[in-house]
Amino acid sequence: MTNHKKLIIILLGPPGAGKGTQAKLIEDRYNIPHISTGDILRDAILKNSALGKKANFYMQKGDLVPDNIIFDLIENRVDQPECKNGVLFDGFPRNVRQAKMLQNMDYIKDCENFFAILINIPDEEVIKRLSNRRYCPKCKSIYNLIHKIPKRKVNGVYLCDYCGTELIIRDDDKVETVKNRLKVYYDSAEPMIDFFRNLSVLHIIEDTVLQEDVFHEITKIIEEELIYEPSDRHKLSFASSERQKWS
Ligand code: AP5
Repeated sequence: MTNHKKLIIILLGPPGAGKGTQAKLIEDRYNIPHISTGDILRDAILKNSALGKKANFYMQKGDLVPDNIIFDLIENRVDQPECKNGVLFDGFPRNVRQAKMLQNMDYIKDCENFFAILINIPDEEVIKRLSNRRYCPKCKSIYNLIHKIPKRKVNGVYLCDYCGTELIIRDDDKVETVKNRLKVYYDSAEPMIDFFRNLSVLHIIEDTVLQEDVFHEITKIIEEELIYEPSDRHKLSFASSERQKWS
C-alpha cells in the first residue's frame, strides 16, 4: 500500500480521556494495529528490562519518558508488516518534538488520510475516571468501577472478563501522580495541538459523556473523508482527497 492510502489516526487528550478505550473500538472497526506507547512501556516495566527500568523512573512520577526512547520504539513498531495499511497511535506524539518526528517519518510522508483526534474532558472527570480505573496487564483491557465493572472478583481482586488475569490499579493513577500528569499534559500538549491545528488535521471531540457517543463521533469524522468497505477491511479508498495534509 502506498503512503497515500494508509490510514493513520492519532488519539490525543488528557490522561483518562478515553484514548485506550476508544483505541480498542477503532482497531476492530478499521483493522489497523493499535500502538500504545504507554502499554509498551508498562510491559517493559513488568519484564524489568533495561527499557522498563529507564521508563519507570519517569512514569512513576507522571513525567514524560525522554523523546529519544520513544522515537526508537515507534520506528521499530511501524516497521512491522502489520502496520503496512496504517496504524492508530495512542499516547504518541506527546509534544511538538515528537509530532515533528512523526511528520518527518518516511512511513507517514504524503499520507492523505491522517486524522489527529483530540478528546477533551474536564480535570475533575479525569480524577474521577482514573481513581476508578482497573487495567489488565495481560490483554490491556480497561475497566471502570463505576460504569464498566469487571464481572468476576476472587478474594477481593477483580479478574479480567476476557483473559481471567488479575486486574491492577496503575501506579500512575494515584491522585498526586495524576495531578502531575495533567500539568505535564497542559505544558507539552497544548503547543502540539496547535501544531496539528495548523496542519488542518485536527478534530476535537468535546466532553462527550458516553463512550459509545465518543466512538460515534470518531467514526463520523473518519468516514466523512473515507470510503470504507466493511466487506474488505484492507481496501481503503478515499472519497475526495483534496487536502495534501503532510506536504
Ligand atoms: P499512557 O498510558 O499513554 O497514559 P495517558 O495518556 O495518561 O492516558 P491514560 O492511559 O491514563 O488514559 P486514556 O485516555 O487511555 O483513558 P482510558 O481509555 O484508559 O502513558 C502513561 C505514561 O507513559 C505517561 O505518563 C508517560 O510517562 C509515558 N509515556 C507514554 N507515551 C509517551 C510518549 N509518547 N512520550 C513520553 N512519555 C510517554 O480511560 C480511563 C478510564 O475512564 C477507564 O476506567 C475507562 O473505563 C473510563 N472511560 C473511558 N471513556 C469513558 C467515558 N466516555 N465516560 C466515562 N468513563 C470513561
